[in-house]
Amino acid sequence: VVHFNNAGAALQPTPVLEAVRQHLDLEAKLGGYEAAEAASGALDDVYGVVAALLGANPCEIALMESATRGLDAVLYSLPLEPGDRIHASTQEYASSFIALLQLSRRTGAVVEVIPSDADGIPDLEALEASLDERSRLVMLTHVPASSGTVNPVTEVGAVVRKSQALYVVDACQSAGQLPVDVDVIGCDVLVGTGRKYLRGPRGTGFLYVRAGALDSVEPATLDYHAADWSDQHGYTVRSDARKYESFECAVAARIGLGVAVRYAMDVGVSNISERVRSLAADLRRRLGAIGAVEVLDRGPDLCGLVGFRLQAWRCSDVRDRLRGLGIHTWVVEASATRLDLEPRDVRELVRASVHYYNTEAEVERFCLELARLALTTGVLAVHGLPPGAGVN
Ligand SMILES: Cc1ncc(COP(=O)(O)O)c(C=O)c1O
Repeated sequence: VVHFNNAGAALQPTPVLEAVRQHLDLEAKLGGYEAAEAASGALDDVYGVVAALLGANPCEIALMESATRGLDAVLYSLPLEPGDRIHASTQEYASSFIALLQLSRRTGAVVEVIPSDADGIPDLEALEASLDERSRLVMLTHVPASSGTVNPVTEVGAVVRKSQALYVVDACQSAGQLPVDVDVIGCDVLVGTGRKYLRGPRGTGFLYVRAGALDSVEPATLDYHAADWSDQHGYTVRSDARKYESFECAVAARIGLGVAVRYAMDVGVSNISERVRSLAADLRRRLGAIGAVEVLDRGPDLCGLVGFRLQAWRCSDVRDRLRGLGIHTWVVEASATRLDLEPRDVRELVRASVHYYNTEAEVERFCLELARLALTTGVLAVHGLPPGAGVN
């Protein structure tokens, strides 16, 4: 296949698959607990390798089943009060924003959208001017689900550092695609997922919490892994980021995540970034040359996600047609990143997201097939098909 859905879930490399299979075999042979004991070294290494990817300390890493669960673990634990301010960018993913809205309903904290420029990039001056002593949280997505925009996470970090607010970064689309260093960014919390640009197994994610940032905050839920039942009436919460984890997990997938992260680091995140950006730039340039295609990515810094629409075609029809040709894309509906897409009147778009293993020849073929579809539209448009009606 031509897999241009890496922003959904990328193809896993052989060593990742082998590691997962090996552990499943071990579980079948020994039993789940015994297999986990036998793999305790590999399991411990996962924290170290994720920490190395992010420039963090292993004690600052929790392994989760998704980025959303990592984010929720922190958000739902925060002691928010009526009138507290939560600042979120226009690029936030639906799951994150829904959580913020629920928190707002529960606590009376107010969710405010960070003003942005014409490209949807957070306005640093406006953010700085609006942060005050009631600002509890600033949330920014490094790369949104719906476009190749790379947000200035470091510059925003410098602004947030001047306030008391907790700085939370969603690195779901950037981890494994772009350098992500928590010290450079200056964030307190960062979440990522395994299945996207890191090429890890599904059902894996991670949470970074800066040491000291949330020491006094108890997770909203605790279990026997997150806390110690010290006596009949009391418990002691563990002091590292693993206080946000739960005991039970997909051990094989976790081991696979560790292998995937190591694999990405061996390839080199800078190399990956350069290659992905170059392929995506080629894709945007070629798409731009097809008259009926509207490329929707905005901003001065773009990465591997390319969002577009094809005139007079429903996005799901474009995706399905391409799928029939063995070419994978995805449809992003406005409800995934409502604050970004709705004001631009984009109800849906096709997302083609490239990885380093994609080739220039694949990009060329992709654009050729789209040009063919565009031609079909042209013919049918002459026969009076209304725009947006779709062609099957
Ligand atoms: C920008 C962004 N944030 C968060 C998520 C959620 O990640 P997960 O499904 O691992 O919770 C996604 C998933 O598509 C995403 O693209």
